[in-house]
Amino acid sequence: MKTLAVINQKGGVGKTTTVINLSAQLASEGKRVLVIDLDPQANLTVVMTGGQFEFETSITDVFESAKKHPILSAIIPAQSQGVPIPNLCICPTDIRLSRVIEQSLTKIHRERILMKQLESCSSDFDIVILDCPPNLSLTSINAMMAADLFLIPVDGGSFSLNGLADLLDALEEVKETDDVNYAVFRNEYAKANKLINNFLDEQLKGLGDKVLKSTIRRSEAIGQASVSSQTLLSYQPKSSTNDDYRSLAEEVCKLINV
Ligand SMILES: Nc1ncnc2c1ncn2[C@@H]1O[C@H](COP(=O)(O)OP(=O)(O)OP(=O)(O)O)[C@@H](O)[C@H]1O
Ligand SMILES: [Mg+2]
Repeated sequence: MKTLAVINQKGGVGKTTTVINLSAQLASEGKRVLVIDLDPQANLTVVMTGGQFEFETSITDVFESAKKHPILSAIIPAQSQGVPIPNLCICPTDIRLSRVIEQSLTKIHRERILMKQLESCSSDFDIVILDCPPNLSLTSINAMMAADLFLIPVDGGSFSLNGLADLLDALEEVKETDDVNYAVFRNEYAKANKLINNFLDEQLKGLGDKVLKSTIRRSEAIGQASVSSQTLLSYQPKSSTNDDYRSLAEEVCKLINV
């Protein structure tokens, strides 16, 4: 089992959208996938559970007391418009997560709660994908400790790389290495936007082969799928943006050897 954290402390760059559609793509290829919602905004949870907000057990309970609520008790089948998606499970979150994480600040090994819990399901899944919140809180640090690869979306805005250097510094610090396994890719790519494309290409040049060849184009169907609690693959199976996610899945699998 390999763990992938979709991370960027900048908000709205497409982390959750990536987790939804990349996980659906990987599951459609037969990989056993678990997605974990680490953001109390619960966007991933709402989309992939058919609009539910409350759960018997969520990742919040796991962080509150992993002894009472091991992660396996919080995993349920993921859905696209109410229909279970084969090979895809979700560990949902809820709004209490921020408060519970604050209270964890005094716990010993508080940064390793998720990593430890994932050990218990290592034979159940091929890939775990973590949807991180737009900050570098203790939740994100748990994701950093647990992850084998960091997937960093950058969007099509001119400020989209602000904060990337800080994020890479944080990853190096938490992983205690200068050689962090990360990959950056362009989300909401618009071919016609040459000025921005040239600007971002120039800015990203320094990262060399850490920048993936795959890009996810800007597509209205992506937002439409999410508001109707569906993956793009089930909402618009023929959308050419699914090809982008297929290419992203291929690159990611190569990087983590899955
Ligand atoms: N490739 C795309 N094409 C069109 N719209 C997109 C694309 N990717 C993301 N979006 C839209 O951009 C918005 C932000 O995306 P998303 O919620 O995935 O970002 P995020 O990084 O998870 O945000 P947050 O930091 O708040 O968690 C959403 O409305 C989503 O539908
Ligand atoms: Mg999000």
